[in-house]
Amino acid sequence: MFPIDLRSDTVTHPTPEMREAMARASVGDDVYGEDPTVNALEALAAEMTGKETGLFVPSGTMGNLAAVLAHCGRGDEVILGTQSHTFLHEAGGISALGGVHSCQIPNQPDGTLALEDIRAAIRTEDIHHPVTRLLCLENTHNDCGGVPLSVEYTRAAAEIAHQHKMAVHLDGARLFNAAAALGVSAADLAAPVDSVTFCLSKGLCAPVGSVLCGSAEFIRGARRIRKQLGGGMRQAGVLAAAGMIALEKMSLRLEEDHRRARLLAEGLVSVPGLVLNKGMPLTNMVYLALTDDVPISAFAIADRLEKESILVGPLDARRLRLVTHYWIDDAAIQKTVAAFRSALTS
Ligand SMILES: Cc1ncc(COP(=O)(O)O)c(C=O)c1O
Repeated sequence: MFPIDLRSDTVTHPTPEMREAMARASVGDDVYGEDPTVNALEALAAEMTGKETGLFVPSGTMGNLAAVLAHCGRGDEVILGTQSHTFLHEAGGISALGGVHSCQIPNQPDGTLALEDIRAAIRTEDIHHPVTRLLCLENTHNDCGGVPLSVEYTRAAAEIAHQHKMAVHLDGARLFNAAAALGVSAADLAAPVDSVTFCLSKGLCAPVGSVLCGSAEFIRGARRIRKQLGGGMRQAGVLAAAGMIALEKMSLRLEEDHRRARLLAEGLVSVPGLVLNKGMPLTNMVYLALTDDVPISAFAIADRLEKESILVGPLDARRLRLVTHYWIDDAAIQKTVAAFRSALTS
């Protein structure tokens, strides 16, 4: 029996349809550009994000890294949020491997970077300063509660960057969740930016992979960087086949996960001792905090739930994150709420 795994949407297994498509996939050597299934996936990803070309990469981290390295040279500066995944959770790759300097500005609770903060962070022409080359945004914004950033905001932030001859990269690991929540297309959300990465392996259920999309010229550079990073894959069509189903089918059902996240949040806030510390979920993430009177830690609660085959993600001693996805149904939500109630009241 599988556990009810709410730690992340990265835990999703491929669907039976994906496994079948993987077994049947036509393949070739993708480093030679000869894998028909990878080529089809890259073309579909480009079409769905409204960009010229796509590049299949093993992970969201590599997609973001290849993008930053393709936009920036050593010593250039990228503006990003203090809560951004690239700054917090990608092992410092942009600095370690690309020599790219980061300028972090605070994320607002809605995941945005204040426009005046972006303006103020852009360096003036001065021999003492790094050159501000790139602005990075994240949509949905994971650490800010899985919040979606609007088309209007993205356009306004990108306009500032473009006025200063900077490029804009969007970490759209969960871009299709943002699109579903806002009732717009992924292409609408990506239109103002120069490049976008989205992940096939999170709520879209594919086992591996992300796609970086942008202009043909930009992707030519990123393809070389992917090779330098060791991310040139060979018969990767077996993975891309699952990615095709992720895009064609799974991207259409994400509102179901969002509805379950709201259901879960509503259930959990009725349990004494639990509060939502990032508000009611707008996509598939529920961030919880323990009130001061709860005598046990988030880690102890997670251990207790694990005994009932329910996995949740403690962030620290007082906070937890729970993420809904394809393999979480209504019964799993009810069972999880009941398990929290019993952990906190008995
Ligand atoms: C917002 C965001 N960006 C990028 C990534 C990195 O993706 P990966 O784990 O495939 O490297 C994640 C992973 O959870 C993420 O949440």
